[in-house]
Amino acid sequence: MSTTLLPLSGRVAFVTGAGQGLGAAIARGLVEAGARVALADIDLGKVESVAASVGGLALPLDVRDERAFTECFDKAVAHFGAVDIMVNNAARTPTTSIWDITSQEWDEVLAINLRGSFFGCRIAGRHMRGRGEGRIINLTSMAGQQASTATGAHYAASKAGLLALTRSFAQELAPHGVTVNALAPAAILSPALEAMGPERQQTVKAGIPLGRFGLPEEVAAAVVYLASPAAAFMTGATLDLNGGRFMR
Ligand SMILES: NC(=O)c1ccc[n+]([C@@H]2O[C@H](COP(=O)([O-])OP(=O)(O)OC[C@H]3O[C@@H](n4cnc5c(N)ncnc54)[C@H](O)[C@@H]3O)[C@@H](O)[C@H]2O)c1
Repeated sequence: MSTTLLPLSGRVAFVTGAGQGLGAAIARGLVEAGARVALADIDLGKVESVAASVGGLALPLDVRDERAFTECFDKAVAHFGAVDIMVNNAARTPTTSIWDITSQEWDEVLAINLRGSFFGCRIAGRHMRGRGEGRIINLTSMAGQQASTATGAHYAASKAGLLALTRSFAQELAPHGVTVNALAPAAILSPALEAMGPERQQTVKAGIPLGRFGLPEEVAAAVVYLASPAAAFMTGATLDLNGGRFMR
């Protein structure tokens, strides 16, 4: 099949937290849709092995550090010529109870999940604003939309904050042809879900109207949609991917 028929052919994407789980699946989905991809992660070994299988440029990145983030993004721009699609996916997902969250853990989760995504939106936003086009996609969570004890309160707060950030950047960047949208998954088969153990997994599954867990490829397909020409009129929106667990 000719690659020019693919929805993202000729496009370049930058995915944070691409070393495992949804980030790795998203990178694969973007490549399969025709994009060239920069895969960034704090764990270079892991992201190199994903890049070796998916194709693409592996880069070390700690999203908490704005200067390092800018340098890493600039490397992708120098390598590919530009970045058209930014996926802010890197996160920590602790399940610590409200009563046990230390101030250090609170700060770390907010620094990765919220501050890191803010840097990602701002760095990519500046680049895309200058080019008059671009797509930013933020991985938030159902935990930011609805109360849940499956993940920690700091995680929920970071994801709710990311929904607000998505709207702020969408408003700011709309006049420049850049769309900014959020994807809110829940209960997707991933290392984070596996870490919950079989008993908790059963409880989670019982609460999903579609009666099964989501697949990483289904999250990747939603990212490809948001990055594709089909979603050009969509900005500041949140796409729910939760098997009907939360309807609004
Ligand atoms: N798995 C789910 O069911 C689910 C549900 C809702 C939302 N999400 C969201 O989807 C995204 C991916 O989830 P996942 O389950 O694949 O997570 P995961 O924990 O399996 O993977 C996260 C990746 O981020 C990387 N990372 C962590 N800290 C980093 C940092 N400071 N800088 C750069 N990279 C860093 C990790 O090395 C890892 O490769 C997250 O934003 C998560 O909140 C996942």
